[in-house]
Amino acid sequence: MTPRILILPGSNRLASYNRRLAAEAARLVAATDAVATHLSLTDYPLPLYDADFEDEHGVPENATLLAQHLTAQDGLILVSPEYNTSIPPLVKNTIDWISRVRKVQGRPVQPFRGLVVALASASPGRLGGMRALAALRPVLMSLGAEVITPQCSLADAAHGFDEAGHLTDDHARAALEQMVERLIDHCRVLGRHE
Ligand SMILES: Cc1cc2nc3c(=O)[nH]c(=O)nc-3n(C[C@H](O)[C@H](O)[C@H](O)COP(=O)(O)O)c2cc1C
Repeated sequence: MTPRILILPGSNRLASYNRRLAAEAARLVAATDAVATHLSLTDYPLPLYDADFEDEHGVPENATLLAQHLTAQDGLILVSPEYNTSIPPLVKNTIDWISRVRKVQGRPVQPFRGLVVALASASPGRLGGMRALAALRPVLMSLGAEVITPQCSLADAAHGFDEAGHLTDDHARAALEQMVERLIDHCRVLGRHE
């Protein structure tokens, strides 16, 4: 089977390090026989989760569209910043809304169940955002995702890319390559599609 991998940066900032790291991950996936789909959350704005809003208006269309993308994939590479040692609101809010999607085009769905997930982060700080990844792991596992062990955290991200946006940090590059390779291997075994 040909694994289908969604690449999702967890920052909408124009000069985002996480967007750059996600672009590198997408290039690595595209160099394999897997099919890479690269989305931006700027295209799927969502209100802050509010149960009263959901009761009144239902789940927003953009959450359903994101859930539809996830259910069409075998794997996900989520590249998230770290805010105050944890998951940034954009990422958590997006996960929370997607977790509320019960149906897509009339069919029952569990968007994260069985999805093979790899986690990456970039930060100008010394730890590269790894505490956000430690926080994301149980959240995604509780939703049924198969989160793989290899991950990539790029520290000192302000100096981690060249002008073309390619990773110059050898340690992070090796970690990203190993992560993508393992993700694709796992998708071949656990993937949801023929
Ligand atoms: C509210 C806030 C909290 C932050 N907390 C952390 C933190 O705990 N650890 C860290 O490494 N960077 C932290 N940062 C810095 C981010 O890593 C930095 O802004 C980074 O560039 C965000 O990712 P992006 O470049 O992909 O947008 C924080 C930034 C903000 C705005």
